[in-house]
Amino acid sequence: MYTPASDRYEKMKYLRCGKSGILLPRISLGLWHNFGSVDRFENMVEMVHTAFDAGITHFDLANNYGPVYGSAEENFGRILERDMRPFRDEMIISTKAGYDMWPGPYGDHGSRKYLIASLDQSLKRMGLDYVDIFYHHRPDPETPLEETMEALSDIVRSGKALYAGISNYNSEDTRKAAEILRANHTPLLLNQVNYNMLDRWTEEDGLQDTCEEVGAGMICFSPLAQGVLTDRYLKGIPEDSRAKRNFFLHESSLTPELLDKVSRLNDIAAGRGQTLAEMSLAWILRRDRVTSVLIGASRPEQILTNVKFLSNLEFTDDELAEIDSILA
Ligand SMILES: NC(=O)c1ccc[n+]([C@@H]2O[C@H](COP(=O)([O-])OP(=O)(O)OC[C@H]3O[C@@H](n4cnc5c(N)ncnc54)[C@H](OP(=O)(O)O)[C@@H]3O)[C@@H](O)[C@H]2O)c1
Repeated sequence: MYTPASDRYEKMKYLRCGKSGILLPRISLGLWHNFGSVDRFENMVEMVHTAFDAGITHFDLANNYGPVYGSAEENFGRILERDMRPFRDEMIISTKAGYDMWPGPYGDHGSRKYLIASLDQSLKRMGLDYVDIFYHHRPDPETPLEETMEALSDIVRSGKALYAGISNYNSEDTRKAAEILRANHTPLLLNQVNYNMLDRWTEEDGLQDTCEEVGAGMICFSPLAQGVLTDRYLKGIPEDSRAKRNFFLHESSLTPELLDKVSRLNDIAAGRGQTLAEMSLAWILRRDRVTSVLIGASRPEQILTNVKFLSNLEFTDDELAEIDSILA
């Protein structure tokens, strides 16, 4: 029987998500990798317990996380059933639809048909009556935005999701989506986007300002650039790493030039008394514009190390300038 750490809420910091009533932990756990049917179930259980013990209340999924598609949701459902069900009301569970999920014209993109059917399937796989957040996973230029947003709004109205989210939407599309949702009396809770020291498109696009203006939060995925912004690859490419095991991170992208930059960032982190993973997360949250960083992990120890960053989110101007000059 699992008993969560009694001090879990003292350990974590929470921030209001946009102008909503929801507080998100500054660090959330995503189940994109390492929760599929090919992975070890006991390790998944330990990771979810470790996260929850640390005060991480938010768990992020999508219909097609695995492999195989759907298996991360199934495994998360098994973990809930095993010993986490009593804590359901202490959790924010999200899922998404927007990428390819099933064959034929109705298992991809942004139609009302796809979103509603997909959420029904996700709820079955997880054994849930509702998710807390349901996202449209990526913009679909072929489907009228009104159709996609009205589907999200109706899903919230049906009670199958409590809040609506969008993911990978740029500033312009976020503004439009928020407007349509507002007209349907459904606030946009948050946008889930890629943002880290190596990938700053949200700053250049003005998305951070837009989220603030429309009253939405922002949660950043791949904050460690899938492990590149840690010490994982500084002494070669480990056999059990994502770069060796998964085609989403190619070994060929780990060039000597990139690794030299990462090594110099690692020195700055050491000077701050942090690991590079901690500094990479702190850099994103150094201002309160980002609600939460959405990490992945392959083992519980990574989660334990990563939450330590919360004790130092301050950067000197010199540190920020040095980081920028390394990555210029
Ligand atoms: N909305 C979207 O389109 C979208 C897209 C991508 C991701 N996401 C969400 O964001 C979540 C996180 O994405 P991500 O997994 O790419 O995030 P990430 O945090 O950038 O990368 C996680 C990986 O970094 C390595 N790592 C983590 N902590 C470490 C540490 N302390 N030291 C060394 N290595 C460490 C591990 O890789 P190893 O396997 O090598 O140990 C881990 O699997 C996903 O699960 C998903 O929920 C959403």
